[in-house]
Amino acid sequence: MHLPNYKDARTRDKREYKRVFFQIDNKLKNKYKGKKYFIKTYGCQMNEHDSETIAALLEELGFTLADSYLNADLVLLNTCSIRENAHNKAFGMLGRLKHLKQEKKNLIIGVCGCMAQEATVVDEMLKDYKFVNFVLGTHNLYQLPNVIDESIEKNVQQIEVFSREGDLYEGLPVVRVSPFKAYVNIIYGCNKFCTYCIVPYTRGRERSRAKEDILREIDDLITDGYKEVTLLGQNVNAYGKDLYDDYNLGDLLEDIAKKDIPRIRFMTSHPWDFTDKMIEVVAKYPNIMPSIHLPVQSGSSRILKLMGRRYSRESYLELFHKIKDTIPHVSVSTDIIVGFPGETEDDFLQTISLVEECQYDNAFTFIFSSRDGTPACKLEDNVSLSEKEERLQRLNQVVNSYFLKNNKALEGKCLKVLVEGVSEKKNMYYGYSESNKLINFTSAKDLKVGEIVEVEITAAKTWSLDGNCK
Ligand code: SAH
Ligand code: SF4
Ligand code: F3S
Repeated sequence: MHLPNYKDARTRDKREYKRVFFQIDNKLKNKYKGKKYFIKTYGCQMNEHDSETIAALLEELGFTLADSYLNADLVLLNTCSIRENAHNKAFGMLGRLKHLKQEKKNLIIGVCGCMAQEATVVDEMLKDYKFVNFVLGTHNLYQLPNVIDESIEKNVQQIEVFSREGDLYEGLPVVRVSPFKAYVNIIYGCNKFCTYCIVPYTRGRERSRAKEDILREIDDLITDGYKEVTLLGQNVNAYGKDLYDDYNLGDLLEDIAKKDIPRIRFMTSHPWDFTDKMIEVVAKYPNIMPSIHLPVQSGSSRILKLMGRRYSRESYLELFHKIKDTIPHVSVSTDIIVGFPGETEDDFLQTISLVEECQYDNAFTFIFSSRDGTPACKLEDNVSLSEKEERLQRLNQVVNSYFLKNNKALEGKCLKVLVEGVSEKKNMYYGYSESNKLINFTSAKDLKVGEIVEVEITAAKTWSLDGNCK
């Protein structure tokens, strides 16, 4: 049993880590043939991609996918800690699973992902959630086959959560949800320690994958017919800093762009270490999509300082305009938090004026959620909930108006769209443009999923565009 604690999780040092190649224990291969699994995923793309690895590990054990958690022999919750409501959702699901287990005594229930890294959550599992068979940390994914096997064989609760990152595992299997769009991890962890954020504690130190491993994975995806790769990391801009003296995200993007892959995306970029080289490379290569997610969090330099974001309103705007001026037809999206402790009406109005200047193509807006163990949790939370809710509403009105305005400017234009499927509700094809806009469209001829087609935009909506493929 390994239990997590934040004191160790907070540690950052230059300790060497090994690159280890995963191999499943031969005795476990197909041992659970005939059993069914179900995974419920919360949180970010990183978690979605981890679930693709979890699915593959389970399939190596012989499990197959159930159509609902009600029909599964094993249910795994891949959890997220970022805000309180992500927590509440996972606990709500655990409540339903508790009932299900009263009828299905042999049901195996596992909790993994970021909540597994929280000592308070693990304590609850040990005391009040005895029906949870195992808890597995984000640094322990490679142990999943053995932990499941022990849970079934021994019927004692397994807790395997390392507080700190261990070795970097390569060669973990993956069952990708999409046959034409793929996530590729390039860096794990985060060293930024924004004062409100729990991620540096749940995901550990920044560790880059070796460039050879990433480039090989992309070659394999190209061979398998993939059309789009999204490079993933909590802060992709830190790529390479821990591994190389002179090779960073700009270089990696350039090496990937020279390959025969039609679409490259990357996320998330912290504004602090966004280099000129990166901007130049995105502008230069047509297969690097002109769509940048650049979280600002607040438009007030005072609040940004309290958040530990390492940039000011002015330096963010300078970077924003450099990106807009250098990359043709670029779309920029952002994340914003309202109601950070101490945020005044004036601070909030600065966020509104920044949004008016940036006119984002998309924005994810949140009310500050206090996370145990983070520095912001100790600040006096003096903005009332009704004030926070009111600010969120006002902010959403402003951001939404720009989504529509930007979309309107695309009416009559022709955009390249990667066909994702046919939406049942609208009976139209749908897909995303290069600038990451959702397009619903009709077509005179039959189209294949994964194809890239030209679509003429006929009507703009707030969150999507309608079009027609000739
Ligand atoms: N690594 C990314 C963000 C990952 S978390 C970055 O720094 O840009 C995604 C978003 O969740 C953040 O950008 C932030 O807007 C929001 N978020 C993180 N912690 C939060 C908290 N405690 N309360 C509310 N929103 C939060
Ligand atoms: Fe969290 Fe900041 Fe790291 Fe993003 S950069 S994951 S917000 S600590
Ligand atoms: Fe959530 Fe962990 Fe991602 S906290 S946002 S699942 S890194």
